[in-house]
Amino acid sequence: MKIIQSPQEMQEISAGLRISKNTIGFVPTMGALHQGHLSLIQKCRKENDTAVVSIFVNPIQFGPSEDYQKYPRSLPQDKKLLESVSADFLFVPEANEMFPFGYQTKITVESLSAPLCGKFRPGHFQGVATIVMKLFHIVIPTRAYFGEKDYQQFRIIKQMAADLNLPVEILPCPTAREPDGLAVSSRNQYLSALERKHAPLVYQSLLEGGKLVEKKEKKPEVIRTAVIKKLQESSLISIEYVEIVHPETLVPVREIDETVLLALAVRIGKTRLIDNLMIQPAS
Ligand code: PAF
Repeated sequence: MKIIQSPQEMQEISAGLRISKNTIGFVPTMGALHQGHLSLIQKCRKENDTAVVSIFVNPIQFGPSEDYQKYPRSLPQDKKLLESVSADFLFVPEANEMFPFGYQTKITVESLSAPLCGKFRPGHFQGVATIVMKLFHIVIPTRAYFGEKDYQQFRIIKQMAADLNLPVEILPCPTAREPDGLAVSSRNQYLSALERKHAPLVYQSLLEGGKLVEKKEKKPEVIRTAVIKKLQESSLISIEYVEIVHPETLVPVREIDETVLLALAVRIGKTRLIDNLMIQPAS
């Protein structure tokens, strides 16, 4: 695996590969790699001639009171993991190369950035869209892979690619889960032993909602109430939102008569966790 720090060098390598008709698969990450990332990279590896992974803890997607400084960083371990899944290139730029003094251009994907996590993390999705756009210009991928745990992020990037005619295919990958159902996330390592014991309730609450839809419950409020009730079994969990939205528009649905996204964000102690479930009503 070749490690590249310079955006210009990465861009030159990628441009050369594309000219010689290589397909480039790309997995953008913030490091602290886990099984979720590895499954994205394995899919990327299989479907493309060249697999590029980036690691960049993007300062502009963190709010002033969020965890940018303490976000887990584990480059030596990440490199080993990337070797084990045969990534070809690791792109690890420095913050001052990506956002030099005087930087001022941002990308906003308007409506899709407003609901769900957007309400609680102002500016977050603008930071994500901006860095992903920059990375796309540097890595020039044929295909880019995003985890469904961050469904809103995936949807926003897909919209950005369509709106701006980007020649890249945006592909979703299923959420990796621990054996007890907890969605794998770099932030899980912030949980104390006790908080970790309570964390599986997050996925269990989604399944509870899913069961009701399967039983033909059509009222979103009934599902929300059941999910909230399940989450309230833990005194350590505080709920940020539980929403049932249309998977394309992310607008709350009035009635469940087609596939919906049940999405939530909670805090367990100081750790913010998100998860979601795509639910199809029984026919
Ligand atoms: O999902 C992430 O890890 C980040 O939001 C991403 C897509 C790498 C952009 O910084």
